[in-house]
Amino acid sequence: MLEAPHSIAETTLPRHVAIIMDGNGRWAKARHLPRAAGHREGAEAVRRTVTASRELGIEFLTIYAFSSENWKRPDEEVSDLMGLLRVYLQREIKELDKQGIRLRIIGDKTQLSADICKLIDDGERKTTDNSDMVLTIAINYGGQAELAMAMRCIAEGVKEGKINPDDIDEEFISKHLYTRDIPDPDLVIRTSGEQRLSNFLLWQAAYSELMFVDDYWPDFDKQKLVSALNAFAERDRRFGARKE
Ligand code: IPE
Ligand code: IPE
Ligand code: MG
Repeated sequence: MLEAPHSIAETTLPRHVAIIMDGNGRWAKARHLPRAAGHREGAEAVRRTVTASRELGIEFLTIYAFSSENWKRPDEEVSDLMGLLRVYLQREIKELDKQGIRLRIIGDKTQLSADICKLIDDGERKTTDNSDMVLTIAINYGGQAELAMAMRCIAEGVKEGKINPDDIDEEFISKHLYTRDIPDPDLVIRTSGEQRLSNFLLWQAAYSELMFVDDYWPDFDKQKLVSALNAFAERDRRFGARKE
């Protein structure tokens, strides 16, 4: 049953919600529209979900916008997605700032165009002091690539004698990931009915609650987020420990 948003007890509200925004293409196909129309509506769902998350008191929202494997799509679609990202950053940073939201981007920026990198840098800088919510957008992000990057960096440190292999534990590895400043996600939601992580936050999702919803991403809204939060509140998290 759907409860009013304010009725979600603070103690059961996830601190960090991560979303695999999937199903834009199928949303468009069901309406006999081009895939680009699905991605455009997907950007609207991002706006709604960001605002709703902040209103509901979520501290960290992380959204998967473009995976390191999405370059395999046709050039036209990649270019549509990058175009939408550009427009999103151009239009929304002011609004994020107004809502007290801090913007962070995770992923490999070296393959992004110079103007998108500049928009990212400006957006991150402009919102750096905001504390109402941290919005992290994963762009050209892959969990395996992230771990490989961290391992290369640690191996360099060992080679130079700056890192002692005995110091490499879980926390040390976490500190070498893009997500070093944010807690692990409590809840990972994937839309569109697919039940896989597709290389998203592989390390960080070790103990996340996973939730797969059938709605296509462009149909996602505050009410659907509230339903997911209510379902999360019913989950029994154990982290490997024995229940009392
Ligand atoms: C999600 O929708 C957007 C991205 C992956 C960038 P899709 O484009 O994957 O839509 P489907 O899965 O083909 O329906
Ligand atoms: C995952 O969706 C990536 C993003 C949402 C950005 P995909 O549509 O790319 O995943 P697969 O190919 O179905 O696993
Ligand atoms: Mg997909």
